[in-house]
Amino acid sequence: MQTIVVDVAKTDPTYFTYLTEMLERGNILILEKAPFIPSDDDMAFMRGIKQTAFTGHKNIAFKPSKDKVTGTAGADAKSAARLKSILMQYSKGSLEFLTRAFPRYASVWKVDYATYRPVEEEGRVLPMSHRNDLLHVDAFPTRPTHGGRILRCFTNLHPSKERVWGTSGSFDDIAKTYAMDAGLGKVSGPIATAKRAAMRAVSGLGLKIPNRSAYDEFMIGFHHYLKSSEQFQRDGRKYTTPFGPGATWISYTDQIAHCVLSGQYAMEQTCIVPFSAMLKPELAPLSILEKLAGRQLVEVKMRNAAPLASAGARSM
Ligand code: SIN
Ligand code: FE
Repeated sequence: MQTIVVDVAKTDPTYFTYLTEMLERGNILILEKAPFIPSDDDMAFMRGIKQTAFTGHKNIAFKPSKDKVTGTAGADAKSAARLKSILMQYSKGSLEFLTRAFPRYASVWKVDYATYRPVEEEGRVLPMSHRNDLLHVDAFPTRPTHGGRILRCFTNLHPSKERVWGTSGSFDDIAKTYAMDAGLGKVSGPIATAKRAAMRAVSGLGLKIPNRSAYDEFMIGFHHYLKSSEQFQRDGRKYTTPFGPGATWISYTDQIAHCVLSGQYAMEQTCIVPFSAMLKPELAPLSILEKLAGRQLVEVKMRNAAPLASAGARSM
């Protein structure tokens, strides 16, 4: 894993193709001062915002498809409107940059939530599956991707403190060591496949049940497995990666095992990029896991489709 500082003045397509490849190789791109960060005044306002006590939602989230912000604690109407407008501006600005840098993704991605993370991460108390201080790869229980990728862009709004991540080795290495023990052999087996078909039939009756592929089921299980593996938590951390005040960073968090060790006040935009948009599909978690499993984990027609709409709303 490398961190690569992006030269925001560069606009030539070969540079952006290089950045695309670096992302797909599991590196983190850093923009020291992104053109879309909020003004000093807006950042100071955001730092005054309080979050609702944990109720299954870990962050304050703006959901573009619902035009709604969730997770704020008792903000008055004027503050709530300003918060929403700042999150929307961040969403718009970061998406404009990502569209310019990664046109192959932008034509097919699904824009997911923009979030705000006002709570100090060091010592934060959360249920195990929601803890971010434990090394993990991201997977969304309510938003199956069918091999689609979780592309995230973060900005540190703290005026003086770094946000510090711990990161690990390559997805390939982690999968080789842990995927079978985490149930890769089972998710594509006949029992699990029949169970998913039954779930699909039930969801046809109008219930909000996510239509998961074997890949989605494995990735959610892998997220939990890695967080609870003593061995991985002990041996998996390879790097400590600090992001300075005002810095922005972009990565595929379904591929990079990461945890946040400390930091407060971050904003983030997520996009789900279909597997079919990858420049190097052989590097994607789906390809690595299928090679290890010796079987297909997502139907070909699904992996080439745009990601599905969500069945509910929860961010990890
Ligand atoms: C995470 O995705 O684990 C959280 C990262 C962060 O909030 O910095
Ligand atoms: Fe994460």
